Amino acid sequence: MASTGLAKGLASALGGGTASALACSALGFGIAPTIFSVLFATVGSFLYYARVWIQGYYFDKRCRVDADLTGKIAVVTGGTVGGLGYAAAEILHKMGATVVLTVRTAAKGEEAVAKLGGGERASYELVDFLSSASAATGAKALAKKLGRLDYLVLNAGVAKGDTAEMWMANQVGPFSFTELLTPLLVQTAKAHGDVRVVAVSSGAHKRASIDFEDPWAPTGPDGGMLGNAYGQSKLAQIMHMRELQKRLRAYKGCGGETAIRCLAMTPGFALTNLTPAVPAPLLPLLWLIARSSRVGAQPIKMACVDPDVPGGSYLSNCYVKPAEGKDGCANEPEQWAKLWALCEKCAAEAASGLIYTGKFP
Ligand SMILES: NC(=O)c1ccc[n+]([C@@H]2O[C@H](COP(=O)([O-])OP(=O)(O)OC[C@H]3O[C@@H](n4cnc5c(N)ncnc54)[C@H](OP(=O)(O)O)[C@@H]3O)[C@@H](O)[C@H]2O)c1
Repeated sequence: MASTGLAKGLASALGGGTASALACSALGFGIAPTIFSVLFATVGSFLYYARVWIQGYYFDKRCRVDADLTGKIAVVTGGTVGGLGYAAAEILHKMGATVVLTVRTAAKGEEAVAKLGGGERASYELVDFLSSASAATGAKALAKKLGRLDYLVLNAGVAKGDTAEMWMANQVGPFSFTELLTPLLVQTAKAHGDVRVVAVSSGAHKRASIDFEDPWAPTGPDGGMLGNAYGQSKLAQIMHMRELQKRLRAYKGCGGETAIRCLAMTPGFALTNLTPAVPAPLLPLLWLIARSSRVGAQPIKMACVDPDVPGGSYLSNCYVKPAEGKDGCANEPEQWAKLWALCEKCAAEAASGLIYTGKFP
């Protein structure tokens, strides 16, 4: 019998005697369950440690940077509970900052503020970036009510839907919003230094391009699984931050490396409200490869508080990484300036209702 032969071989390899008895008994009374258990434990441990690595490799020493943010003020756009914006706000709030979340409905604002514990250090403002008027009203209200603005986290965004809406919500609306908050950012930089503007971009920017002819309905190389409209908006965010960095450094009192830094980052693949529903059999895979929103928000934290990160950087996994875009356009200063002019043109088009008659102006 094969199993007896195997048992004898195993027993002799183990040195006979007791080992022989053990091997025979194992093979005679449940070799299959034993092998299954060992395999199960091995694969289970491998998967567990793989996930720990996937989730944990974010926490390199730079990402563990701690700081006392008491007295600092952060505005985080798109602060719905369950998303990266909320997770980032929670981290900054725990570090002592006062946080203001922008949300689209009062119910989402109340929920987020309650989850942060309420009190004076947490509030919300209603802003819908699909509306130029809403972005302007929200920014003006914030500029009026906040005495300073240390961290502006441009996180709100969508990954699917109408291409014009995606360009508006992910780039044009946040661009106008940032413009209106720039005087407060500059004022804070002059008075206190170390201001940060952080755009939550994506690896989807890598193969994307900006359609300068018609960014509302872009064609051209794709931005990965989510298409060029998404990739275009995420690429635009990086170029926006780089041009903004250049422009802000030109302000009197804002030169040098540390007065004000504009950065973009990717959170990696994180489980949020944006994650599409997957069939049940794929859930374990999702559990393995996806990060929690809190882990995804670690590069946002790094972009806000790391003392050494250079302005204009693109962060991935809490490391400064090269940004890409078709033909490396994210790295071309003349392309940043062209993108800036395009955003100004699009903001004017949206505000005047020239482009889209849906939700904006
Ligand atoms: N999750 C990922 O794997 C991943 C990967 C790369 C990059 N990102 C980026 O991370 C950012 C946050 O996404 P998330 O994954 O945390 O998704 P999420 O949970 O859906 O959060 C997106 C936030 O943006 C808000 N938002 C959407 N459209 C808006 C509009 N027109 N005006 C104002 N706010 C709007 C949403 O508000 P509502 O709740 O009202 O819809 C929500 O608060 C996005 O920019 C996304 O592109 C995510």
